[in-house]
Amino acid sequence: MENETMNTMPRIGDKAPAFQAVTTQGNISFPEDFAGKWIILFSHPADFTPVCTSEFMTFGKMADEFERLNCQLVGLSIDGLYSHIAWLRTIREKIEYRGMKNIEINFPLIEDVSMNVARTYGMLQPGESQTQAVRAVFFIDPQGVIRTIIYYPLALGRNFDEIKRVLIGLQTADNFGVALPADWRPGDEVIVPTAGSCGVAKERMENRDGEMHCYDWFFCTRPLAKEEVESKLGR
Ligand code: BEZ
Repeated sequence: MENETMNTMPRIGDKAPAFQAVTTQGNISFPEDFAGKWIILFSHPADFTPVCTSEFMTFGKMADEFERLNCQLVGLSIDGLYSHIAWLRTIREKIEYRGMKNIEINFPLIEDVSMNVARTYGMLQPGESQTQAVRAVFFIDPQGVIRTIIYYPLALGRNFDEIKRVLIGLQTADNFGVALPADWRPGDEVIVPTAGSCGVAKERMENRDGEMHCYDWFFCTRPLAKEEVESKLGR
């Protein structure tokens, strides 16, 4: 029972719980310091471990791509600041992995020795580990609302193509007022939602020059060019 009360689980649609923290880039007030940006808040089990190292190198390599998508990366583990600093320096100076080397991590990595943030965000899942955070990924929109949550176990590294695809998908859904089908990627057709907003009804009635395709009354799609998505998302 104690664990249940100590470990909360924020949900999709909730405001991201606010906290203050010490990070490798200085102190932060979360999420207000990143107002107006998308945020990916993610946890890893421990510094100086191999899966986490491969993930950090991949995040570091892709940092520019997330920045172009107006997205701030924020990492966290239940390690102290000096451990974080030493691990990131080791990554930068010593590790060459799959063609990645000299990887500099410029986004904040939170020290959470007290486990306060990890508990608040449901990153501690005692059945998996009592002492290490699982690999959680929270996608938070510029209004500070949690929009997607993905959890991975300790032994499985994250899929960074999927993390980027989720971010682009959320931004596309918001910007174009559409939904996105299974395995959608920019350039694929998008779903014109059925649930009745005026905009949806208007778009369906106009049928945008007949380019809409309906598989049935509840399932209509239309093209959305990759270039249109990319120019709207500022890439
Ligand atoms: C790793 O990052 O390699 C790892 C961390 C905790 C448990 C298992 C693997």
